[in-house]
Amino acid sequence: MIDTVHGRGPAGCAQRVPPGPVPSPRFPPWPSERNDAPPDHQETAITASDPVPLRKDGTPSAGTATSAVELRGITKRFPGVVANHDINLTVRTGTVHALMGENGAGKSTLMKILYGMQKPDEGTIAINGEQCEFSTPGDAISRGIGMVHQHFMLADNLTVLENVVLGGEKIHGIGAKAKAKIKEISDQYGLGVRPDALVEDLGVADRQRVEILKVLYRGAKILILDEPTAVLVPQEVDALFDNLRELKSEGVTVIFISHKLHEVLAVADAISVIRRGTTVGDADPKAVTARQLAEMMVGAELPSPESRESTVTTAEMLDVKDLRIAKTDAEGIERVVLDDISLRIHKGEILGIAGVEGNGQAELVEAIMGMLPLDGGTVTLDGKDLSGTLTRARREAGIGYIPEDRHRHGLLLEAPLWENRILGHVTEEPNSKGMLLDPSAARVDTRRIVEQYDVRTPGIEVTAASLSGGNQQKLIIGREMSHQPKLLIAAHPTRGVDVGAQAQIWEHIRAAQREGLAVLLISADLDELIGLSDTIRVIYRGRLVADADPATVTAEDLGTAMTGAASGHIESEPEALAEAHAVAAEGTQAENTPADGTDPSDTADDPQAGE
Ligand SMILES: Nc1ncnc2c1ncn2[C@@H]1O[C@H](COP(=O)(O)OP(=O)(O)OP(=O)(O)O)[C@@H](O)[C@H]1O
Ligand SMILES: [Mg+2]
Repeated sequence: MIDTVHGRGPAGCAQRVPPGPVPSPRFPPWPSERNDAPPDHQETAITASDPVPLRKDGTPSAGTATSAVELRGITKRFPGVVANHDINLTVRTGTVHALMGENGAGKSTLMKILYGMQKPDEGTIAINGEQCEFSTPGDAISRGIGMVHQHFMLADNLTVLENVVLGGEKIHGIGAKAKAKIKEISDQYGLGVRPDALVEDLGVADRQRVEILKVLYRGAKILILDEPTAVLVPQEVDALFDNLRELKSEGVTVIFISHKLHEVLAVADAISVIRRGTTVGDADPKAVTARQLAEMMVGAELPSPESRESTVTTAEMLDVKDLRIAKTDAEGIERVVLDDISLRIHKGEILGIAGVEGNGQAELVEAIMGMLPLDGGTVTLDGKDLSGTLTRARREAGIGYIPEDRHRHGLLLEAPLWENRILGHVTEEPNSKGMLLDPSAARVDTRRIVEQYDVRTPGIEVTAASLSGGNQQKLIIGREMSHQPKLLIAAHPTRGVDVGAQAQIWEHIRAAQREGLAVLLISADLDELIGLSDTIRVIYRGRLVADADPATVTAEDLGTAMTGAASGHIESEPEALAEAHAVAAEGTQAENTPADGTDPSDTADDPQAGE
């Protein structure tokens, strides 16, 4: 979906100053025009006759003068699911407020309501102390609200510039002025956005940055970021957080959704947790630990992907030799995107690829999958040369694929879950029998996947689009693991899944690994990379420039190698390593031993929303 800005006036907001008739309509200026000036209505005094706002726990709050956003009693139902049930949320102006909760808890739905994309069945929204009713995102945008979605909303066939100005043509036009503004914002926040690049050619992290820029371009004063860091590597996350702090100092309010507990603790001023569609409480980031947060969210311990006993064999599963791919970019210049790549993965081995996005990871995956033609080199799976074969043949030969962008390459959003279960495996059992599809067998197996991979859904006939992001991911993992792949290509396999589901996915991968599965793992999450991999290679500018043993490398040193600052065999200083291991061990131990002696899983048996 692409936001459009409507020519019509006020965004359905009314001042909350009784008595008297409905306030006269206001026509707030375009957000970017009033950049630093607070909206005039912000000064609205709270009179004694105002309804006293409630906190999330239902107690009266101090007032709305400093509240950028107040959601009260928000309820939203979908067929078979109560996505939001009586949610209360107060976000103070000029703060970074984290919204946390397990997959399907209702976070994105709540934010889409605040952004005018969905209408609540019950409840009220107040922005800067004014009651508002939003019918469209345009209404919300005109109130200074911007949203970066969990799944990108960019038009692939347009350039970055076109995407950014789309719907906001009135701000700086669509030409040179707009381009200059984009460059200015990009430089100011270190986003590295190229206005003339085609969105189609961008990787997920780049697209994430375009989405962020698009919102900043509109001068949003209240920024909603729905999992903006899911595919960013630590350096990029740090840069984004610096930007958020800067924005905050300019009076911008940020609502931030993330499953990464340490990130939230690092950046948030306040935390609200929702669970099964309703607010379960607030946490003070200065006082709460990651473990307590995990418990609040999913009622389970915080997992850690530390390596277990090795399952690596000497039998070769994947052999990639001298891979070379060149691409001609928009300016007509040929760029070598994969240069002389050779790697081997054995049965029972996980090979992790570390790298800042855009250094050739996507091309490497696509080359192995047969989605990109090779300019040189070979791909051999289990002794069989697949170099010239089609993607279908590679799938049938035993390659499972968890794509980096689940919407682009993983799902048919408008198709039911059981059809999505068939996707990519049309010719394989149980989806087909002989030459014919077998929908009933596919349906039965979809139910099994839903059960086994804990996909939270009211049924298998709903569309993939109606699942929450993390649950879409779980469905894909379930599908790909169900064909007993010989090789699993896993790009950000736990992207957007909550800490509980993350542990389950790791366990599924490990179990298959023990049976001989070979895995090519690409992940922006360096803890995941170090914890799961048996070997790590670093990709930089299309070349494998360094390698590391996960047992002897820290995330920090890996991060340094990813910037091209180190090459060869990377080994961390023993002291740094010991410290990293101690921190990890401490975390794991603490997670498994709740301070109050209760079993954390005790709290995990709430009925699922809407069930
Ligand atoms: N358009 C829709 N139609 C039907 N059900 C929906 C729709 N959008 C969301 N839901 C359901 O509402 C619930 C909340 O989904 P939501 O996307 O808000 O979760 P979330 O907290 O953002 O989860 P995640 O962390 O996985 O992104 C889920 O059960 C989901 O299946
Ligand atoms: Mg979501």
